[in-house]
Amino acid sequence: MLERKLIEALHYIKKFKGKTFVIKFGGEILEDENVLDTVAEDLCLLHDIGIKLVVMHGAGTLISSNMRKFGLEPEFVRGERVTDEKTLELVISSLIRVNNKIVGNINKNNPIAIGLGGSVFRVRRKRKELGYVGEVIDVNSKLLSEIIESGYMPVIFPIGIDESGNSFNINADVVAGEVAKALNATKMIILTNVDGVLDRNGRLIKQLDIKSARELIKNEVVTGGMIPKLESGIRALSEGVERVHIVKAGEHAILGELLTKEGSGTMLLR
Ligand SMILES: Nc1ncnc2c1ncn2[C@@H]1O[C@H](COP(=O)(O)OP(=O)(O)O)[C@@H](O)[C@H]1O
Ligand SMILES: [Mg+2]
Repeated sequence: MLERKLIEALHYIKKFKGKTFVIKFGGEILEDENVLDTVAEDLCLLHDIGIKLVVMHGAGTLISSNMRKFGLEPEFVRGERVTDEKTLELVISSLIRVNNKIVGNINKNNPIAIGLGGSVFRVRRKRKELGYVGEVIDVNSKLLSEIIESGYMPVIFPIGIDESGNSFNINADVVAGEVAKALNATKMIILTNVDGVLDRNGRLIKQLDIKSARELIKNEVVTGGMIPKLESGIRALSEGVERVHIVKAGEHAILGELLTKEGSGTMLLR
């Protein structure tokens, strides 16, 4: 049994060597030190076996709790945070805090993580009613590629800058898809706070194609924060990314999903 698992893992390692994966996780990964430690360990191991990694993260829970401290009530439209000026300030400070924490945890294992934010994304305002929410016009893939080819791991928080130098909040799922597309990534893996995409009865959907994913959104089986994940996944797949995985963030969730045949969450494919 153990031998089977090892052989399976070794096959995947051979297959994935030299490929680019984008890994996105929400801020709640920071709430459990054990989970964060094992995520950092997984990232370093995958880096060491020759997988090129780009990490994207959000800070959803921390932003919302910081907003409440200032008497602001979080509000979302189809999973995207309505961002006024004060909220933007809190978004940026929360994201930087989370970024430092993730970079620090990776670098405890191996000092390869490089924290990045606004230098990666050129944006414009998305929709007036969302306030300071940006839509990505351009990803600085040259910068990212140079960092990766030099053996480092970009850890990116989702803030973009417009042509006048204003900062904008961007949904981390949406940007993860943009990064995956810009870097011709093979896979995008989204770690979240649920087992994966759930059907109408709350059961995990193991595999999902683009057409069914669109239907789940249309029929409102998928709502809230899962909408940008699926939409970003659909876009990434349409632009050449081979597989998108949506998985629950837990101890060693990344290795479990990548190096075993069964995986644990939802796999999106064309
Ligand atoms: N069909 C669905 N399957 C799974 N999650 C769903 C579905 N519809 C809505 N959701 C919601 O999407 C949430 C995940 O998005 P979000 O809260 O933004 O997390 P993250 O911080 O990882 O982006 C889940 O916790 C769940 O409440
Ligand atoms: Mg979210």
